[in-house]
Amino acid sequence: MEEIVTKALSLRIEALEALSHVQDEKGLEEFYVQYLAKKGLIPGLMTLMREAQDKAAFGAAVNSARTDVTAKYEEKKQVLAKAKLEAKLASERIDLTLPGQPCLPGRVNPYRLVIDEVVDLFLDMGYEVCEGRDVETDKFNFELLNVPKDHPSRDMQDTFYFGDDYLLRTQTSAAQAHKMLEMERKRPIRMIAPGKAYRRDDDDMTHSHQFAQIEGLVVDKGISLAHLKATLELFAKKMFGEKREIRLRSSYFPFTEPSVEVDVSCFNCGGKGCAMCKGTGWIEILGAGMVNPRVLEACGYDPEEYSGFAFGVGVERVAMLRYGIDDIRRIYQNDFRFLKPFSIK
Ligand code: PHE
Repeated sequence: MEEIVTKALSLRIEALEALSHVQDEKGLEEFYVQYLAKKGLIPGLMTLMREAQDKAAFGAAVNSARTDVTAKYEEKKQVLAKAKLEAKLASERIDLTLPGQPCLPGRVNPYRLVIDEVVDLFLDMGYEVCEGRDVETDKFNFELLNVPKDHPSRDMQDTFYFGDDYLLRTQTSAAQAHKMLEMERKRPIRMIAPGKAYRRDDDDMTHSHQFAQIEGLVVDKGISLAHLKATLELFAKKMFGEKREIRLRSSYFPFTEPSVEVDVSCFNCGGKGCAMCKGTGWIEILGAGMVNPRVLEACGYDPEEYSGFAFGVGVERVAMLRYGIDDIRRIYQNDFRFLKPFSIK
């Protein structure tokens, strides 16, 4: 046999022998470069074709070297890949007999507790719960509530605007106007509307640019301030204890007339005066009043026939007073250490 053909055949044997010693992917890569890559030994044999006398025999020997070695190389590649995967699976095996991570029961944010409790109280009294909307129009947040464009009270309720007409509502009172306009044939209303409100407030221990309110609205024939007072007294007792009393101080809101600020007797000192009530014996909890006849009229109710009362409570304020929370920001942080003591009754 021509020497050059023998050379091809022995290169084949040498390559297969070398391949059998390959242990890992790195070795396989080196093997490939040495024998099979474009500039490797086996393709390199072709450059000797000119020297071969029996070109057919030489060609056949080179081809079989290439096909055999390539096939064995592919085989080895798969074996190594499979071994690698198996090793990975073995190292990542999950031990199902290990005990799991304890799953701690969730807690209820005090803010939620207050809303749920107030809503329950008013549902028991036959109120319905209405969902207002966070994005309001100028008309519902202000104009229908007797706050025209140039009204000075708008200064205290600057908020986030989208164009001229849309804004993040500054008060849940906007839900009052929606409810009154929605009512067909102007029937009586007893509604409660919890939700968020937004104002350009500097965030500090007691203020946040976003907070929650609960709005109440009753409209019917013959509703008087006495109904408002009795309702809020019940509310104060339920929220702060049976012994609580309330006091109404006259105030001003454009959408109520007369308007009142409502104080509850201090539940910390029982009315004697302490740091919590700043020595006065009373703590302010909400704003309220008789629905302004101009609002009734703007929302389609005849003020000669109907009257009503409305109130708005700050949820965080009630939660802070009830649970002795010193900083409003704790309510929003959802830190489990803070939430731990709170749960559903
Ligand atoms: N909307 C008022 C506020 O945000 C509260 C309020 C509601 C007052 C309803 C009177 C009647 O301050």
